[in-house]
Amino acid sequence: MPDENKPERLIEPAATTDEVVLDITLRPQHLADFVGQEQIKQNLNISIQAAKKRAEPLEHVLLYGNPGLGKTTLAHILAREMDASIKVTSGPALEKVGDLAAILSNLQEGEVLFIDEIHRLNKTIEEVLYPALEDYSLDIILGKGPAARTIRMPLNRFTLIGATTKLSLLSGPLRDRFGHTFHLNFYEQVDIEKIVNRNAAILSVSIDPESTALISSRARRTPRIANRLLKRVRDLAEVEANGQITKPVTGRALGMLGIDEFGLDDIDRRLLTTMIEKFQGGPVGLNTIAAAIAEEMETIETIYEPFLLQIGFLERTPRGRKATNAAYQHLGFDVPKVQTLL
Ligand SMILES: Nc1ncnc2c1ncn2[C@@H]1O[C@H](COP(=O)(O)OP(=O)(O)OP(=O)(O)O)[C@@H](O)[C@H]1O
Ligand SMILES: [Mg+2]
Repeated sequence: MPDENKPERLIEPAATTDEVVLDITLRPQHLADFVGQEQIKQNLNISIQAAKKRAEPLEHVLLYGNPGLGKTTLAHILAREMDASIKVTSGPALEKVGDLAAILSNLQEGEVLFIDEIHRLNKTIEEVLYPALEDYSLDIILGKGPAARTIRMPLNRFTLIGATTKLSLLSGPLRDRFGHTFHLNFYEQVDIEKIVNRNAAILSVSIDPESTALISSRARRTPRIANRLLKRVRDLAEVEANGQITKPVTGRALGMLGIDEFGLDDIDRRLLTTMIEKFQGGPVGLNTIAAAIAEEMETIETIYEPFLLQIGFLERTPRGRKATNAAYQHLGFDVPKVQTLL
């Protein structure tokens, strides 16, 4: 959720307010424009064709992956490819059983319901979903106590698309009711480069290949961050270089943003440095690190940690997080000597 009072952070993968506008401009509309994630696209393409042939709605789809990797984008693309309209809500927005019941009973035949952060649905609401997902019906309880009875109301056939950054928090019964579960992974550098080039063209700025490579290598393999960097570089290019994105401008813009060659920002570096200097590199518990650098555990866990794990700067052990030798080297510390147990 965008928060006006918080200082803007470049790495934070959640969309900020002015980004929502940019997002709409840059968000791919068709499966063919969705860069990378080839296997997911292939599977979805087949399912879409098959569902269309049978004149049935697409099976329910669960998308999971780190913030900014394209879950919301893909949900909208799927609806469009199915020629269906889409209703959007989220786990925390559904507070009462009646909220969900109202949405479900108003869905048109073939419509897509997108529930973002589906892991945050509360239990009682989740249970309303089960029959809806399984047999397109809604169980309504009338009356109270011994006189209560349930009536079953048929619903139009629809497709649920659920998105989550935390698959492990989703209950088993809910997970099982999805026909497809797709894990969006961090992107390959070449795919991020394609996204940067495509978006520079949409924004009508020229960019040289070196700048594309530079921006892409620092985007934490995440499209949202690539777009954000591109936008910042474009701003500087407009002010200083007639809107031409060239290597010197790009280098300067990235320098001003404090993003290093691995895409780490100040907070990543503070996190790792603190682990190394105060906790001998770990293992140290997440809550201890969070307290030491005055960040929320949730932020570290969903935003910073996944990428640091991905590039091998951090390790998760049963006793806590550990900084790896690669992290020591990157930050200019001497790699600790291995203690042998001879
Ligand atoms: N495969 C892709 N190709 C091109 N652009 C992409 C792709 N995936 C994401 N993007 C861009 O990145 C931006 C962020 O993606 P999106 O909002 O779909 O991420 P998300 O996974 O829903 O993140 P969150 O978990 O924060 O909701 C989009 O506006 C889109 O422009
Ligand atoms: Mg999203």
